[in-house]
Amino acid sequence: MTTPYQQRLTQLLQQPKTWLITGVAGFIGSNLLETLLKLNQKVIGLDNFATGHQYNLDEVQTLVSAEQWANFSFMEGDIRNLDDCHKACAGVDYVLHQAALGSVPRSIADPITTNSANITGFLNMLVAARDAKVQSFTYAASSSTYGDHPALPKVEDNIGKPLSPYAVTKYVNELYADVFAKTYGFNCIGLRYFNVFGKRQDPNGAYAAVIPKWTAAMIQGEPVFINGDGETSRDFCYIENTVQANLLAATTKNPDAKNQVYNVAVGDRTTLNQLFEAIQSALKDNGINYTQTPTYREFREGDVRHSQADVSKAKTLLGYEPSHRISEGIAEAMPWYVKFLG
Ligand SMILES: NC(=O)c1ccc[n+]([C@@H]2O[C@H](COP(=O)([O-])OP(=O)(O)OC[C@H]3O[C@@H](n4cnc5c(N)ncnc54)[C@H](O)[C@@H]3O)[C@@H](O)[C@H]2O)c1
Repeated sequence: MTTPYQQRLTQLLQQPKTWLITGVAGFIGSNLLETLLKLNQKVIGLDNFATGHQYNLDEVQTLVSAEQWANFSFMEGDIRNLDDCHKACAGVDYVLHQAALGSVPRSIADPITTNSANITGFLNMLVAARDAKVQSFTYAASSSTYGDHPALPKVEDNIGKPLSPYAVTKYVNELYADVFAKTYGFNCIGLRYFNVFGKRQDPNGAYAAVIPKWTAAMIQGEPVFINGDGETSRDFCYIENTVQANLLAATTKNPDAKNQVYNVAVGDRTTLNQLFEAIQSALKDNGINYTQTPTYREFREGDVRHSQADVSKAKTLLGYEPSHRISEGIAEAMPWYVKFLG
């Protein structure tokens, strides 16, 4: 039996569309690019390389055919500049808006820069996409919007107060998207990502995410630091699930599915202590034996204690079916890390 996702992929192969991916040189953006080019879609990519890398684009080029690569045009530009957004949106069917400054600690250290990329940039993209009359605008929202709401699992309608400037920006995105949907009849879908991981996620820098950061440390034989007691938990979501949610959301024909916000995760909960063991074991399968124990240190400011998604809304309205649980994702991603960091 074919899944709704497989059906959608077949339709796209039969009728290629033009897509805009903002943040295309980043982790999620470059994975979206790879999938869309492999489906023979036309893709415009916008990025200012704030946290993305040319080598992510170069790697995608090695993974697609020359004909598929010729369907990609890259524009170096900044979403804080409305002109750049207008140029990038011209002739586009579907926008996948990923560009933003991620990381809770970065936003605490420098809320103004995070605000300008994540709120001014977001508003510019909404205006440009509306003016270009694109068919849909799918954007990266965040589980950080649940803030201090204690309920588990997280259900879309029950949110608390944001715990960081980053979370404020992602919540404001949802408010703007909702107002644009109501005011301009514009089709926006927000995807609240929960700790996405996979190949091309940056292991370097002060704001690296936990999976690439720990994997890099273990490969290089360095200490691994756990913030808090290690019982903090997350619903880690493999990149393939995130790509699936984006393609389903952007192309949905279900009127009830439009102008909504969805959790994008698996519905599992993994503690940091369990994650440490999972990465250690996957590395062992790849010939790397890490024997150090983790070092525990202070809890990190702005962090949510537990996070787990209820993904039934995305399943019901979009036909989303996560294809990878955390262990399958880690097993699939690990050879890439070993090659990239070894
Ligand atoms: N990775 C996760 O776990 C996660 C979780 C929740 C939400 N998100 C959101 O998903 C999106 C993609 O995240 P990612 O993990 O791929 O991060 P990333 O840092 O790898 O990618 C973001 C990309 O946006 C680009 N960018 C930043 N500011 C820009 C600007 N002003 N103009 C143009 N381009 C700009 C960066 O250069 C980078 O290539 C972000 O909106 C992020 O907030 C990610």
